[in-house]
Amino acid sequence: MTDGEVRRVTRAVYPGSFDPPTNGHLDVIERAAGYFGELVVAVVVNPQKRTPMFSLEEREEMLAACVANLSHVRVEHFRGLLAEYVKAAQADVIVKGLRVVSDFESEMSAAMMNRSLSNVDTLFLMTDQKYSFVSSSLVKEVFFLGGDVAALVPEPVLRVMSEKRTNLQRR
Ligand code: PNS
Repeated sequence: MTDGEVRRVTRAVYPGSFDPPTNGHLDVIERAAGYFGELVVAVVVNPQKRTPMFSLEEREEMLAACVANLSHVRVEHFRGLLAEYVKAAQADVIVKGLRVVSDFESEMSAAMMNRSLSNVDTLFLMTDQKYSFVSSSLVKEVFFLGGDVAALVPEPVLRVMSEKRTNLQRR
């Protein structure tokens, strides 16, 4: 970009495992939707960290229900490298949420790697502080051990989680 040239951001990609989506994710989605012409919530098919508890279909359906009222937000999925996906999707930026300082350490190197692979920058939004302790993995652990997570996940997510718990208890 040359001096004085302005690059307008229109299409942003918010990637994640969303296993399951939490109120922290939704907070980032709603706030990011206010900044970009188009926001694509991109669900990774095979998360690196662990086998997801919720199928790709379940994760996409939960997200679609959560963003149904946001007209310029859509849900997609991707396999493999995020950098390849954002290039193919012709995204202008990647959006990520940061909860605590320790998130920044891994996100910084991921942002640099993704930029070197795709020339697409990552913009960070701080999660609302009331969700700074909320992670998908903690929500799952608490819920499946009988804890109340109603304040931590959107209503469509709670419904799917409750169905899954009932199915697991039947086995
Ligand atoms: O919600 P998560 O699990 O923190 O999301 C992580 C995600 C999906 C953004 C990250 O694992 C990812 O980008 N995966 C795709 C594979 C990839 O591109 N790896 C190199 C990242 S620098």
